[in-house]
Amino acid sequence: MSSETEATLPAVSVMPIDELNPNERALVGAALAATATAYAPYSRFHVGATLLFADGSRHSGANFENVSYGLSLCAETVAIASASSAGRLHEIVAIAIAAVGELEAAVTGEFIAPCGRCRQVLAEAVTICGHDIEVLMLSRDGQRVRKTTARALLPLAFGL
Ligand code: THU
Repeated sequence: MSSETEATLPAVSVMPIDELNPNERALVGAALAATATAYAPYSRFHVGATLLFADGSRHSGANFENVSYGLSLCAETVAIASASSAGRLHEIVAIAIAAVGELEAAVTGEFIAPCGRCRQVLAEAVTICGHDIEVLMLSRDGQRVRKTTARALLPLAFGL
């Protein structure tokens, strides 16, 4: 393996939910609660994403699907776009993602990871914030969290 490849491997850690600090646990809990606001009649996969701002306040979004399936918006994108509309994009320090529902064979991963498009959207937020954004992904059983950062999720991103 070349040193360049090693340098771009994502920094990831996994921990039980009760080892998170209280702020992080509340953030993950808010993402799980936000799944209830998903509009997902086609996939029935309800995703919630909650942003943590520097002052400790939070802002949530959920996936918003469309009968023309490809037009559907992911929870992360909804949360970040609405934070932008609220003028608070530069205040984001972390995002938590959770989901409720089954996608049969299509989703086999234990953790709810941002899709490629959402990673590019997160990369834009990193540029505007001027610092990396922590990413917390809740496991499907709600017991564990995978932690990484937006930069680690999309090395060599377009525009950065
Ligand atoms: N989805 C998200 O909200 N976030 C992701 O990062 C991946 C997928 C949504 C899109 C669609 O509404 C449903 O999950 C099934 O793909």
